[in-house]
Amino acid sequence: MVLHINASKQQWIFFSPNSLPWLPALIILLLSSISFLFFTKKSKNPTNLPPTPPTLPIIGNLHQLGKLPHHSLTQLSKKRGPVMLLRLGQVPCLVVSSPETAKQVLKTHDLECCSRPFSHGPKRLSYNLLDLAFGPYSDYRREMRKLCVIELFTVRRVHSFRHVREEELGKMIRHITQISPNNRVNLSELVFSLTNSIICKVAFGKSYEGKQFESGKFQESIDEAMAMLSSFWGPDFFPYVGWFVDVFTGLHWRLEKCFREFDVFFERVIEEHLDPNRTKSEHEDITDILLGLSKNETASFHLTKNHIKAILMNIFIGGIDTSSLTIVWAMTELAKNPRVMKKVQAEIRSCIGRKPKVDETQLDKLNYLKMVVKETFRLHPPATFLIPRESMQHCKIGGYDVYPKTRILVNAWAIGRDPEIWNNPEEFYPESCESDGVSRSSGGGGNDSGDGNDSRMELRRPTVVVVAVVAAASVVDILGLGLKGHPKFCGMVEL
Ligand code: HEM
Repeated sequence: MVLHINASKQQWIFFSPNSLPWLPALIILLLSSISFLFFTKKSKNPTNLPPTPPTLPIIGNLHQLGKLPHHSLTQLSKKRGPVMLLRLGQVPCLVVSSPETAKQVLKTHDLECCSRPFSHGPKRLSYNLLDLAFGPYSDYRREMRKLCVIELFTVRRVHSFRHVREEELGKMIRHITQISPNNRVNLSELVFSLTNSIICKVAFGKSYEGKQFESGKFQESIDEAMAMLSSFWGPDFFPYVGWFVDVFTGLHWRLEKCFREFDVFFERVIEEHLDPNRTKSEHEDITDILLGLSKNETASFHLTKNHIKAILMNIFIGGIDTSSLTIVWAMTELAKNPRVMKKVQAEIRSCIGRKPKVDETQLDKLNYLKMVVKETFRLHPPATFLIPRESMQHCKIGGYDVYPKTRILVNAWAIGRDPEIWNNPEEFYPESCESDGVSRSSGGGGNDSGDGNDSRMELRRPTVVVVAVVAAASVVDILGLGLKGHPKFCGMVEL
């Protein structure tokens, strides 16, 4: 059997290739010049601003982002240093590209830098910023986070969904083993469908088998939602006039269509859960938990249907693509590196002996496999810039002044490939994760900040646990196939 791993799908999230509507750039230019003349504020008196690459009038540095902004900004930071101040349209944007400066943003100055910038697409898809990931810092968001940390993302909950992961992984493995050894398997599709089933069962109680949307095109709908969350929206960078660009380019109508598609699905899920005749499963899913919480009269805020839909959106859209990309990249790297593949297979063999499969309690013993997952995060962080942040107060990053209302991008992709930190940074070498000097999985939601004591950091830990468990278990099980005599297992890799 030949496993066909399609890793060609672009793996940077929160900036998509669709995101630069260059075609109507002239229109942007024309319209924004009006806004520039009438609405630009006088800049503050900076004391020590970070270096800025040369800017063009009106569009600032937008033209320098290119098709792969994480690549372009990495190149720029090689010339300008790990802290740069860009101007994207009318908006100042700080880009940090070293572990030290990332730590200052994410940890030392977390309080000053923990808001989220306004973005039109996320605002619509999150029911006017009622979610966890995209809303600005506020009392509401703090309370909502606390609630989710206590009720949803606990280690106990992660463990309670173990049966879902085992069931779905088992199904996928059976599916692969039934395919004739001479046929190809598209691993990307299989893994996407696996993470979809797991997330759906955990969040909504059933897998929907990719048929949740009326269009029937499940992967396309998720891709479209990702694009809507990561696009360059006119109003984000050109206040007052930018909306016209989105209407003109059709982005506005795409967003409305996407919102409606997801809204109909979430409405259906909630209606199904409220149906008194529904056969309750033995385990509560996340929708059950949220609906239960919405009945709590004493809570600090009332959880409405839209709150629930917004959180479901985060889990659904945020969990599927990220997890499947990580698994596909891990498998791709193993296929490309037979030395690592052999070592990880030997570790699994010595751990499970003659048993047919690994169970989750044994994952803890698979240290080398954990390094493989970490190394995958280093080279292929699914969220290359994490989720953009915005500063709320003045602070100093890398010795430079950062003023309120500055967008902040942490270039996790650049940090993972910095030759100052890593020997042969392009090489997939899991052994480098043995010593624990620097952040090794920045894309995985900030592993190294797990010792912080605010709720943001607490929240990220379970996410990493879920991811690590799903990724590790999947890799183990797929490798398990290799152990059971499928010699052409890593036949073909397309990059
Ligand atoms: C490999 C898989 C994943 C990766 C790489 C990943 C990465 C990230 C990153 C980088 C952030 C932004 C953190 C920040 O800016 O502070 C984030 C936030 C978030 N992720 Fe994930 N994630 C993954 C899987 C998941 C899964 C499976 C879920 C849900 C079950 C999830 C739910 C969330 C939520 C709710 C947030 C918002 C939390 C916040 O803003 O503090 N993620 N994730």
